Amino acid sequence: MFAFFYDKLMGPLEKKWIASVRKKIVSGLEGNVLEIGAGTGANFPYYSKGKLERLASLEPNPYMLEQAKDRAKELDLPVEFYEGRAESLPFKDGEFDIVVATLVLCSVSDPQKVFKEMRRVCKKGGKIVLFEHVRTESKSLAALQDFLTPAWKRLCDGCHLNRDTGRYMEESGIELVKEKKYFKGVFVEYEGVNPG
Ligand SMILES: C[S@@+](CC[C@H](N)C(=O)[O-])C[C@H]1O[C@@H](n2cnc3c(N)ncnc32)[C@H](O)[C@@H]1O
Repeated sequence: MFAFFYDKLMGPLEKKWIASVRKKIVSGLEGNVLEIGAGTGANFPYYSKGKLERLASLEPNPYMLEQAKDRAKELDLPVEFYEGRAESLPFKDGEFDIVVATLVLCSVSDPQKVFKEMRRVCKKGGKIVLFEHVRTESKSLAALQDFLTPAWKRLCDGCHLNRDTGRYMEESGIELVKEKKYFKGVFVEYEGVNPG
């Protein structure tokens, strides 16, 4: 259900704001890029084809994967598709220059494993680029996120409103080089470097 309605549910927020963030974070990416949890391929229109050597995408939900394949075809974007979970990536160590995830870490079952895998498949000095909604530093808002999360998780395919993604990233050893917060830190753009 969630997979089927995802693009429709996101539509208004996409048009108003998220599309501009997607464009900002993916349009400049170069080299061998892996996008995990690519969903319906919502970032695909914003990659610069000429800059990419390779774009691989991984997604566990077969319904979303099919929509992403259709989108890549429409855009004539050469994407390698993999069905799977980011906790166990089917790639060799250091295979990518950049690993991207947008609105994904909130939904994975084991964020620590995912960050470990991102580091493993990213080359030394490579980039980890994320755009996520996270647990805010505002105490009252965070309390609301904690309250809503159990129901939200059931409605939205395991999504946690209160995930402390920044902390997991820091604990993984990835060096944070950029952090841009939006809406009291409910949404955050992170850019990290893999120290190897
Ligand atoms: C809110 S959607 C975001 C989709 C897309 N990245 C975007 O920006 O629109 C969350 C995505 O994470 C995927 N996901 C959930 N658990 C995952 C996991 N363990 N590994 C990889 N992707 C996962 C879901 O299937 C879904 O496509």
